[in-house]
Amino acid sequence: MIPFTKPIIEDEEIEAVKRVLESGMLAEGKVSREFERLFSEFVGTKFATVTSNGTTALSTALEAMGIQPGDEVITSPFTFIASANSIAMVGGVPVFVDIKSDTYNIDPDLIEAAITEKTKAIMPIHIFGMPADMPHIMEVAEKHDLQVIEDACQAHGASINGKQIGSFGHCATFSFYATKNILTGEGGMVTTNDEELYDRMLMIKNHGRGKEGGYSHYQIGYNNRMMDIVAAIGVQQMKRFDFVLKERRKNALEFNEFFTEFDEIRPQVEDEGFKSGYHLYAPSLYSDRMNRDEIVSALRDEGVGSRAVYALPCHKQDTYLNIQNWRWAKFVAYPDYSKVSLPHAEEIGAQHFDIPVHPSLTIDEKNSIKDAFRKILS
Ligand SMILES: Cc1ncc(COP(=O)(O)O)c(C=O)c1O
Repeated sequence: MIPFTKPIIEDEEIEAVKRVLESGMLAEGKVSREFERLFSEFVGTKFATVTSNGTTALSTALEAMGIQPGDEVITSPFTFIASANSIAMVGGVPVFVDIKSDTYNIDPDLIEAAITEKTKAIMPIHIFGMPADMPHIMEVAEKHDLQVIEDACQAHGASINGKQIGSFGHCATFSFYATKNILTGEGGMVTTNDEELYDRMLMIKNHGRGKEGGYSHYQIGYNNRMMDIVAAIGVQQMKRFDFVLKERRKNALEFNEFFTEFDEIRPQVEDEGFKSGYHLYAPSLYSDRMNRDEIVSALRDEGVGSRAVYALPCHKQDTYLNIQNWRWAKFVAYPDYSKVSLPHAEEIGAQHFDIPVHPSLTIDEKNSIKDAFRKILS
């Protein structure tokens, strides 16, 4: 089976981890500072802080932004559940707005209608690495005085007109989970230009400790820190990131070109000036002959590691259908998510599937993937 992902871990990572282990300083420290420096430099923000994973990056940022129980955060339902769950974790109410069926990202034209007096923030998600329409979203946010947190957990290296994703919103979060464009196994980062927000995040992720360190604590916080063992992998991953991004893009554009032969396959659309990081390559199938589950299973039979990751958008997940069981439901009025209808998210949920696009794909593997489509769709 051609795997959908293949982490590149080489001698550089192994040596870097060994150095940390031998140093005796295993927890968050100077290697994490180096990872933050390289990452913020790449994204183009003044500040970045590491976290234990992408979910804690989101919850740390949302709490630092001041999201309170009952506050509404507008977001996309077509995502990994962690996006919406991070809102619910801090007591916020995820308000799902439909996506565009070509980009799979939140439709900025639908955001204003979802804004109420309880709305505090917008959380666009750059799904599969494809940038959401940040210029448009920032315009709506400014008009309504809302904060914006970019969920860039899948979008390392994505950009709009040369500006990196992660530098548009008031803050942005990244994940370094084992399948991501930059990977450390588990890990996360928040980027921001706002020093006060950054300072609040440092407190929240570290038990309310002051900048001076030691054992004076000023507020309730968590342990959302990263280990230097993990950061050491991240620093080395940053060094080969240009290569990873270039290869992912090359593979994705080659598949885009290939799929022009097949009317039934519609790749996710990159708008003019938008560049995906191609964390995943996920076209949609529109065919009278077979459905999405059948093509996934046919591809797997041909040895292609294909999946349909968000077949159930968030508002269709039991988590949100049973939100009355969540601890904040005693204090917060949630919408009846069973009545929420988001036709494009449901459509793409039913039609999309992914195929491998990782940087280690060989020419033979790409040819096998193309042959599999020719066989299945001929
Ligand atoms: C869009 C999105 N948001 C948030 C997360 C959460 O990141 P993590 O798994 O590192 O906690 C992920 C992880 O896959 C994700 O894809």
